[in-house]
Amino acid sequence: MEDRIAQLGTDARARIAAAADLEALRCIERDLLGKQGPLAEILASIPSLDKAERPAVGRLANVLKCELLAVAAERREVLEAELLAAERSCEDFDPTLPARPARRGSLHPITRVRRRVEDVFTSMGYRILEGPQVELDYYNFQALNIPADHPAREMQDTFYCTGSGNLVMRTHTSPVQVRTMESVEPPYRVISLGRVFRKEEQDATHDHTFHQVEGLVVGEDVTAGHLIGTLRSLLAHLFGRELDTRLRPGYFPFVEPGFELDVRCPFCEGGCRVCGRTSWIEFCGLGMVHPRVFAASGVDSERYTGFAFGFGLDRLTMMLLGIDDVRHFMAGDLRFLEQF
Ligand code: DAH
Repeated sequence: MEDRIAQLGTDARARIAAAADLEALRCIERDLLGKQGPLAEILASIPSLDKAERPAVGRLANVLKCELLAVAAERREVLEAELLAAERSCEDFDPTLPARPARRGSLHPITRVRRRVEDVFTSMGYRILEGPQVELDYYNFQALNIPADHPAREMQDTFYCTGSGNLVMRTHTSPVQVRTMESVEPPYRVISLGRVFRKEEQDATHDHTFHQVEGLVVGEDVTAGHLIGTLRSLLAHLFGRELDTRLRPGYFPFVEPGFELDVRCPFCEGGCRVCGRTSWIEFCGLGMVHPRVFAASGVDSERYTGFAFGFGLDRLTMMLLGIDDVRHFMAGDLRFLEQF
């Protein structure tokens, strides 16, 4: 056995010394030192040897293993140095060339505006909640007072998922309201921001995927005055000055009364492309939480009142950053994204 180890050592040293490149060296190392290699085999056979023979064989095999690892490492260094020298001596090697610039990513414009909106609301004591993008029909429609045969479903046609349960791609962030009311005891102030989906004809102001912000406040004595004040102060923070707003009646099945809040166009006096020459921009749907929505989520509507609002982040981002086509957001074109 000792002779065999000595012979193995001689062969192995010769093979390593002859390795022509790094890849060949890697193969040789795997052959010699791997789990199926001759050294591993010798070590595994020790228990079956004569007791007297075992210590010497064990020692020799381990010494050889260490030696071969060292010899291989030395050979690797030589081969790497040769490779580098070859690359450097090549004609077009120019060490004075500047390094390739590392490409820096940037935050998506919607993410930037989303963070600004989050900052304003967290400073007003709101918590930020997440909801699933693939949602149960129940939370997206039914619990929001939009039963299966309700005409309001038509305005929010979406992508229905076949198979398991009644799943839809959520059409708005309002389902997070119901999930919150079901699981948290009032009082609370929450917002939820994220992607929503609708089956839309795509044009400069419509895309199949967009982003919304939902707000919900429930407590004792929460009023529509609080709601309007909150939204006006959000706008003032975002635009850096008070903006003129107007409130119109609006129908949303999950609020009563329901409103729409318009903002006087911050870009013009008397009409421009952004406001469609009307001077007003529709900004937000809002209202007082409907007693049926409270009932569906187990909130006592005798004791509590609440307000809710929802607006699109895409349109807000377009207004704040001066972007004229919503389709840019999802196109993944770096020439667009790198501007922000
Ligand atoms: N979910 C509505 C939509 O997508 C927006 C909305 C309107 C949300 C009124 C609300 C609300 O919370 O009170 O059109």
